[in-house]
Amino acid sequence: MSLTDREYFAIGQARAMLQESGVWSLEEDLSCLIDRYIERLDKSRAIEEFMLAVQERCNRVPLGHIVGMVEFDEMPLVVGSGVFIPRPHSQIIHKWLETSAALRAGVNVLDLCAGSGAIGLAIARRRPDLKVTCVEFDEIAVQYLKRNIDRLAGRKIRVNHLQADIRDEQAFKRFTHEVGLIVANPPYVPQSQELLPEWSVHHPQASVYSGTDGLELIRQIISLADQLLSREGWLVIEHGEAQAQAIRELFKQSQLTNVQTVMDKEASDASGSSVMTVGCKSL
Ligand SMILES: C[S@@+](CC[C@H](N)C(=O)[O-])C[C@H]1O[C@@H](n2cnc3c(N)ncnc32)[C@H](O)[C@@H]1O
Repeated sequence: MSLTDREYFAIGQARAMLQESGVWSLEEDLSCLIDRYIERLDKSRAIEEFMLAVQERCNRVPLGHIVGMVEFDEMPLVVGSGVFIPRPHSQIIHKWLETSAALRAGVNVLDLCAGSGAIGLAIARRRPDLKVTCVEFDEIAVQYLKRNIDRLAGRKIRVNHLQADIRDEQAFKRFTHEVGLIVANPPYVPQSQELLPEWSVHHPQASVYSGTDGLELIRQIISLADQLLSREGWLVIEHGEAQAQAIRELFKQSQLTNVQTVMDKEASDASGSSVMTVGCKSL
């Protein structure tokens, strides 16, 4: 689609504004906003709406919250204010699954702290023979999770959802020793850590922070893994780079063996590294 002089001018202005605001992925954000607001059939309000969206991004509202959609593992996911925007960093989990974990057909998989469902849905897309359940406690996040599950059922990607707090162990009784894989990208940021405004201001606090050392929910996930994993079941948790050693120690204090931390440099960016720790239940 060819652009008018006014559109070229607006895009130049937007580029300068975004640069000034300090966003770390300027050209990607700009291209997404041009696609969404400029390159469309009805041009009557295109520039006005484009500049409103650019201004929001300059205020550091996450791109996904502005456009209402994010692409994750070739799936368009519905997102918006009140839900965590899935990050490319989490691809480390399903990439690992493809190369490293031998999981039998029919095995139960739990995606704990599932948010909009990105990780669980990506696993179900790649392994339709597994029984994936996405677990989330927040009311707003659950609404997005259900929408994504319903939408992607149309592409034969099938996932269940369970609205539950992972600190409520009773809610998981029926999965005792029945789970072959638990994955999680939980909140893991220490309460006092400074973050970019996209996360410190615009994401729900419960989706980002987890106690003074950032490990509160990770401890709970490891405890649940001891109870729920079957023999030779896997636990995979995404976390911050600086937490790797502490998390390996926590894994080793549980029933998990073959504990290792994996980093994916390709999926890392200026907003953080893509890191996860994995272990296998031995007993
Ligand atoms: C970092 S976000 C990740 C969401 C999703 N896994 C992703 O990668 O897009 C963490 C999610 O955990 C949820 N959460 C926080 N505490 C929880 C708890 N106690 N039980 C269940 N979910 C929880 C939050 O609501 C949020 O959706």
